[in-house]
Amino acid sequence: MKTLLVTGSSGLIGSEVCGFFGRERGFQVHGIDNNQRAVFFGPQGDTRWNQQRLEREVPGFVHHELDIRDRAGVRDLVARVRPGVIIHTAAQPSHDRAAAIPFDDFDTNATGTLNLLEAARQSCPESPFIHMSTNKVYGDAPNGIALKELDTRWDYADAAYEHGIPETFTIDQSTHSLFGASKVAADVMVQEYGRYFGMPTCCLRGGCLTGPNHAGVELHGFLSYLIKCNLEGRTYTVFGYKGKQVRDNIHSLDVARFMAAFVDAPRVGEVYNLGGGKANTCSVLEAFAMTEQWSGKAQVQVYVDQPRTGDHICYYSDLRKMRAHYPAWDITKSLAATMQEIVEAWTRRTA
Ligand SMILES: NC(=O)c1ccc[n+]([C@@H]2O[C@H](COP(=O)([O-])OP(=O)(O)OC[C@H]3O[C@@H](n4cnc5c(N)ncnc54)[C@H](O)[C@@H]3O)[C@@H](O)[C@H]2O)c1
Repeated sequence: MKTLLVTGSSGLIGSEVCGFFGRERGFQVHGIDNNQRAVFFGPQGDTRWNQQRLEREVPGFVHHELDIRDRAGVRDLVARVRPGVIIHTAAQPSHDRAAAIPFDDFDTNATGTLNLLEAARQSCPESPFIHMSTNKVYGDAPNGIALKELDTRWDYADAAYEHGIPETFTIDQSTHSLFGASKVAADVMVQEYGRYFGMPTCCLRGGCLTGPNHAGVELHGFLSYLIKCNLEGRTYTVFGYKGKQVRDNIHSLDVARFMAAFVDAPRVGEVYNLGGGKANTCSVLEAFAMTEQWSGKAQVQVYVDQPRTGDHICYYSDLRKMRAHYPAWDITKSLAATMQEIVEAWTRRTA
């Protein structure tokens, strides 16, 4: 039986990956998570419910209460399990939170990733190693692209970006937030373990990843949090750009499906922009309108005329490289279908 090691297994992406590979692909799944999300974001970010769900629902799932900053602990676990695949999703995932906890952010995102890479090199260098990176590695450089203002959103005015941002876009000489910078360090290191040591590594630079298992909070998990606010009648604060800032959204299942395609035909030191693509974009204003349709409740909102530092005005991923390398993969869950699932999940969880 093939063995998969997933870090951040109780989080949005990690839990989807555990379920997908455990149930659909017959892997023995080992998860690493120490519920650090509750430390980063407080009780609203708690992911124990998701860990318990995996223990109930994924046959043979083994949970390891381990901090990826624990270098010796990571080394010993990887040596013991010798996983056939490693999927690394554990992170401090928030742009804004990082400035308050710079050491925790860097130690988790950059050094934690290095701990895993080195453990993999020592014990299972032939195993595909997939790293969840982020579109924040591009910093705010995408804001330099000429834009056009439409009624409810911004869009690129430059035809060169009509399909979105490609993987060749510059990653330096822009404002990243400390989070973006720690993720750049990890992203480049993952590429380097591919290029320098020949390991089958890849970085997936995520747009907005979401789905019913997201514990969305104000500082991370835009759609999940927005929908939660609507359902609970809470005020959603819009930060700048007239609420017309655009994000591309991808369901966590389509993320897991892409990872499976990579595992089946791994490459070395690759980078992909993984988002919903242009077809699955929405602005904050458009997300309000769609959510109101699902829930029948008006969105309570307040506008602050100050964008978050380094925030993108318009970002969507160019999916053409992913589709060219893995033609059997494509998006299967539309934005509307994803939003409906999130509404149903929050309704169930708060019932
Ligand atoms: N969700 C998004 O919109 C998005 C977008 C782009 C990139 N990403 C990236 O994808 C990855 C997964 O994101 P997510 O949305 O699933 O995040 P998440 O916060 O839902 O899950 C991360 C999990 O990692 C765990 N964790 C954090 N620090 C840890 C540590 N030191 N040791 C062990 N476990 C630890 C947390 O408890 C949490 O369960 C991250 O690398 C994130 O930067 C996410």
